[in-house]
Amino acid sequence: MDIKERIDYLRAELHRHNYRYYVLSNPEISDKQFDDMMRELQDLEKAHPEFEDDNSPTRRVGSDINKNFKQVTHKYPMLSLGNTYSESEVTDFYERVRKALNEDFEICCELKYDGTSISLTYEDGKLVRAVTRGDGEKGDDVTDNVKTIRTIPLVLHGNYPSSFEIRGEILMPWAVFEELNREKEAQEEPLFANPRNAASGTLKLQNSTIVASRKLDAYLYYLLGENLPCDGHYENLQEAAKWGFKISDCMRKVRTLQEVFDFINYWDVERKNLPVATDGIVLKVNSLKQQKNLGFTAKSPRWAIAYKFQAERALTRLNKVTYHVGRTGAITPVANLDPVQLSGTIVKRASLHNADIIEGLDLHIGDMVYVEKGGEIIPKITGVDKDARGFLLGDKVQFITHCPECGSKLIRYEGEAAHYCPNEAACPPQIKGKIEHFISRKAMNIDGLGPETVDMFYRLGLIKDTADLYTLTADDIKNLDRMGEKSAENIIKGISASKEVPFERVLFALGIRFVGETVAKKIARSFNNIEEIEKASLETLMNVDEIGEKIAMSIIGYFANPSNRELVERLKSAGLQFARSAEDLSGYTDKLAGQSIVISGVFVHHSRDEYKHLIERNGGKNVGSISSKTSFILAGENMGPAKLEKATKLGIKIMNEDEFLTLIS
Ligand code: IVH
Repeated sequence: MDIKERIDYLRAELHRHNYRYYVLSNPEISDKQFDDMMRELQDLEKAHPEFEDDNSPTRRVGSDINKNFKQVTHKYPMLSLGNTYSESEVTDFYERVRKALNEDFEICCELKYDGTSISLTYEDGKLVRAVTRGDGEKGDDVTDNVKTIRTIPLVLHGNYPSSFEIRGEILMPWAVFEELNREKEAQEEPLFANPRNAASGTLKLQNSTIVASRKLDAYLYYLLGENLPCDGHYENLQEAAKWGFKISDCMRKVRTLQEVFDFINYWDVERKNLPVATDGIVLKVNSLKQQKNLGFTAKSPRWAIAYKFQAERALTRLNKVTYHVGRTGAITPVANLDPVQLSGTIVKRASLHNADIIEGLDLHIGDMVYVEKGGEIIPKITGVDKDARGFLLGDKVQFITHCPECGSKLIRYEGEAAHYCPNEAACPPQIKGKIEHFISRKAMNIDGLGPETVDMFYRLGLIKDTADLYTLTADDIKNLDRMGEKSAENIIKGISASKEVPFERVLFALGIRFVGETVAKKIARSFNNIEEIEKASLETLMNVDEIGEKIAMSIIGYFANPSNRELVERLKSAGLQFARSAEDLSGYTDKLAGQSIVISGVFVHHSRDEYKHLIERNGGKNVGSISSKTSFILAGENMGPAKLEKATKLGIKIMNEDEFLTLIS
């Protein structure tokens, strides 16, 4: 078999196994076999760029190229559906259709998936474009991100029309959403309110590698085109399933209104067992001919309607508002409620988010409040039953002015909704939170130490900050509650072992606001040691990939605080890694010293990020825009036309990747 044949074979097999695994949930080979094939294909493609293919299964892993999305006009505008919450309007819809058609008809009943809608265009069995709804007329071209979604076929099989569009919903499954929010919570980043926001936020990320890691899913529910196989909408979708699309198996064709209501009532309960969010059902006249006869209003089709499920809510009494202080000092107001049953759990507390929300609700102690779970994991208060207010109504809820834990006066940063306790150095939950973050698995990963132990050490005055951990001895702790000699020694060993944790994780462990795991990695790889970061200007920090002003300001603010600098000094003396390792630094040359290099286009041998590192490792500087000071442009394929023009005008040398690799080799 020659190389091209092998590549084609691997691509076809990987597409097939991908479909069996993700769409049919019926794999034929092991994950390891799949990964091995994928790796072989990646290697072959890298070695033979001449066989590149935009729809290769390797495109599912994403790329780190930053780009703004291109706006695309929809061939058929993406209309929305008429919405209703009332059963009588469902009856009205049915009657309207019956009268207008004056003949037999079928209704296709479907779930209304609660994600973000997408339009996919296929030409000759290949995905050529994926566009968001946008304003209905024009949307964003998010093809590269959509390609990372495993349930969306890149190439079709079977007997598909040569050109068609298919629409559907991109979803983040509950389990992925909850995991993502747990990670965000651990880093005190703002949470996604529901899987819909998480899905649409993810789809708009610039870096498709992150999109790939977020495990989105998709259901397709609307086929459009000139040469569709059948007259029935339902039948067309069953055909589409044969071409490789994931089509919901909860669709039913019915004829009577009673059957419609049976479908609604069944799914109102059963939907809670689905892995993805749904917020209603959609009724569609099944025959395309009849759909055409019924036509559209300006905003939505006359042949379809959405019935929305009532969000589950409960009415209960607000007893008091307490305030939680997080690791970064952010204050969260929490409503303490009379316990009430809601979607299968008993709710006693609900988040009130921030001072503006409390003010907007005009909340008083003793108020009867509506609690909703909706798509959210943390229940929230959505309203107040003002008619229920009587003589006994308590005081209006006033947001606190001072920290409930340490008494410091709270501050509110410009443009932020949250209040903060500024007493980072001495506010107990902030200190404990910072130590807990420091020892956590993704940070210093200290064996044998957990939040309870940290809490105990702190209460007993054994530690006041993270640096104190490194002066603890087994003798200090072996006689403590539930400790013993063995565990004491293990903890000390674990602490000592953490001195080997690499720089990037130490940087993450410091708990600088907005410096999560990924950001810490980026920063640690762009500077040689902590001293360089301490001294870096706002501009230098913002030159690092994906570091914006907010993060850069936070880093500067962190090092502007003398107690933080002192803490870093003490951790440094304890022997922690505050510089890139020798191994990391080896391979450094000064071949590009003093040169400013712009990267543009798409590359074959390395990712853009890797080229950036190569430039830095060889003493050069990667800059964003072309000027007369630019030394040369490292250009891949599809270099932007504006850049090309500017480079030509200024007479700047354009180097391809092979030339560049020879230069630094
Ligand atoms: S059909 C012209 N079917 O609901 C009608 N839409 O307001 C095309 N949606 O934007 C849409 N599940 O994002 C249809 N089974 C389903 C759906 C569905 C969810 C969403 C879609 C659309 C919105 C309608």
